[in-house]
This record gives sequence, structure tokens and C-alpha cells, in this order.
Amino acid sequence: MKNFSNYKDYSTKDELSFDSKAVHGALGCEPLTGAVSFPIYQTSTFRHPEFGRSTGFDYSRLLNPTRQELERTLAILEGGKHGFAFSSGQAANMALFTWLNPGDHMILMDDIYGGTFRIATTIFGKYGIEYDFVDLSDLDAVKKAIKPNTKMIFIETPSNPLMKVADIQALSDIAHENGAIAVVDNTFLTPYFQKPLSLGADVVIHSATKYLGGHNDIIAGAAVVNDDDLAAHFKLQLKSHGNGLAPMDSWLMLRGIKTLHLRMERHNSNAKKVAEWLRKHPKVEKVYYVGFEDHKDYDITKKQTTGFGGMISFAVDSVETVYNILKNVDMIMFAESLGGTETLITYPTTQTHEDTPEDIKERLGITKKFLRISVGIEDPDDIINDLERAMN
Ligand SMILES: Cc1ncc(COP(=O)(O)O)c(C=O)c1O
Repeated sequence: MKNFSNYKDYSTKDELSFDSKAVHGALGCEPLTGAVSFPIYQTSTFRHPEFGRSTGFDYSRLLNPTRQELERTLAILEGGKHGFAFSSGQAANMALFTWLNPGDHMILMDDIYGGTFRIATTIFGKYGIEYDFVDLSDLDAVKKAIKPNTKMIFIETPSNPLMKVADIQALSDIAHENGAIAVVDNTFLTPYFQKPLSLGADVVIHSATKYLGGHNDIIAGAAVVNDDDLAAHFKLQLKSHGNGLAPMDSWLMLRGIKTLHLRMERHNSNAKKVAEWLRKHPKVEKVYYVGFEDHKDYDITKKQTTGFGGMISFAVDSVETVYNILKNVDMIMFAESLGGTETLITYPTTQTHEDTPEDIKERLGITKKFLRISVGIEDPDDIINDLERAMN
């Protein structure tokens, strides 16, 4: 029996482009049978040939071939050495934050995804880990927030839902100069558009439920690192918490990733059209979209990404317009989540950012007139027509 971990990856060959690597994954096919679609190893344990020998797999909580193929694929696409697949983005975040010790301090993006806010404050705050939420697009504010015990800067860029852009390279430098690690939640852009490790970050984290899975059919998380100590940390978390992604869901993500490049291109071009249309609508007061040339940090976006993604937020003229949109959309679905083939519209104040305190939401602009749209890969005219009809 071949040992998968020794099987030669052909997709790591430098001459292959991102698109080809996304299609072929790490092994390209399953080496035992040549199955082109990597099999779902639906097994909890593995038979040993004899005492002292192992196929490389012992027990699926630790390692499973389908999950391993996915983890190696994730590492290849993010340009890292070690990939990890978790049962959710939140599970990946939980595993990450246990890197910190009581007494450590972390700095996080101020309008960060509400679930990450909850983990930092409610869970890790309880264990004596200090935190500050800072506008990471303001480097001076970050420098001021650094303390002698700062051990992590958690960057979400573009941020959810205000589409702020943070300079990954500059923030990674600040982190390293102060003995901290830099983490990037790369959910919104994926490695197709943004590769944080190549910009100096230490950890890339994902809600893989979103674009990586891509089809609104799994809950999953991912982490990719280069450093061996960080890799050992994530491995220990997977082994101890048992929060690794199940084989079936690993396979679904592998299948999703095969079209990542195609989907991201379409999300990108559709979002551009929808954002431009929204901006001209009389009932729309403000559009938050990183692809606008007059976005405050457009230059940083152009420097560190190759695309703008499919996410847009916007504020409308009244709460009544919000309710009309949410009630009247037809093809577009009023639902929490993002990054799938279907266009979804979300009301952050009661959904994704439910647990963020009201005063913080008000200050940031996540008001009752604020909506977020994850532009899908349908015909862009159908998306616009649906919004137009729902608004009027
Ligand atoms: C940017 C971001 N990070 C992390 C998460 C958490 O991921 P999950 O819902 O897969 O647990 C989400 C979920 O919406 C998110 O939007």
C-alpha cells in the first residue's frame, strides 16, 4: 500500500498556475486506484499491517486521507507549508486563539465578524486574554494600541461588513517588530485574489463555509501556516478538540475548490456591476465596496490583491426600505452567510453582528439601515432587476 504522505504531488510543480492547482488538488488523483475524484474515506479507523507499522493513518480524528488531500490543497493554494481543515470557521478561530496564554493581549479589526468578536470577548476574555478592537486601516492607531504583552494582530481584510482594507504587509511588520504574530482572515477574497502568507502574515484563516466551499452546502473552516511551531499547535488542537472536518464535507470542499478561480472571477465582475448600480440608486445613501477607485484604501487593495471579490454593503435611506428589500427580493435570498453561488442578502445588525454591542455598531455604522449583499454568480442583470423591483 502506498503511503500518501510520500506520494509525489505534481500540483506543487511551479509551472502550474493557481487555476490548474485548484482543479487538481494535491495528489491529482487517488494513488491506489487512480480515481479522478478523490474518494471519501468514510472510516473512523485504519487497520495496521502489523505491530509497529502503520499506513500513515491511524484514526480519523487525527488524520483522514480525504481531509489530508484537502489540507494539502489548501496549503498549496495559500502558498503555505501546512494546511488544516476544521469543522467550521469558528472552530478554526477557537484553535487559533488557544495559541495565546493568560495575560497575553491581542488586537483585532474593530468591525470584525460578530462570531470572532464573541470568541475574543466572551470566551478568551474569561481566560485572562486581553483584547482591543482597533481600526486596522489606521496604522498609527495600531502602533498606539500595541502593548508589551501583545502577541497577536488579527486582521480581517476586507473587513466584515464595512469593507475596510488593512495593509497586510505593514501590519505583519508591526506584529513581528513587537514579538506578535499576524493573522489574516482571508474569507472574503480567498487565495485566488489575496495571499496573506506571501505578504508576511503568519496564519491565514478562513470560514471555508464561504467561497472555498462555494455552494452554500457545508460549514467548514481552514488554517494555513508556514511555521512548524504554529503547525504543531494546530495539529494538537485538531487532535485534542476533535474539530477536524469530516470526510464527506472535506470532499465537498475539494469539489468546490475545483471551480474556485471561475467562481471568483464571476463574483468579482458581478459585484462590480451591482456596486455601480447601487451607487446610482436614489434610495441608497452609501455603498461600501473595495473596488471603487475612491475607496479610502484603494491603493492598498491594488497593491495586495488581484481582485475585489463579491461582497458589498450598503446603507439605504430608511428602515422601511430595508424591510421592503428583505420582504420583496425574489431570486435573491434573505439569508445569513456569503460566498456561495446564490446571491444572499444579510441584515448584519440582527444577524452576523447580533452579539456586537449596540453602541459599537452605531459608532461603526452597522445601523438598522445597513445591508450586506453577497453577490452570487447568476446573471448580473437578474440580480440588479430583483433589487430594483424589491426597492420600489
Ligand atoms: C469573515 C468570517 N470569518 C469567520 C466566520 C465564521 O465561520 P463559520 O460560520 O464557518 O463558523 C465567518 C462567518 O460568517 C465570517 O464571515
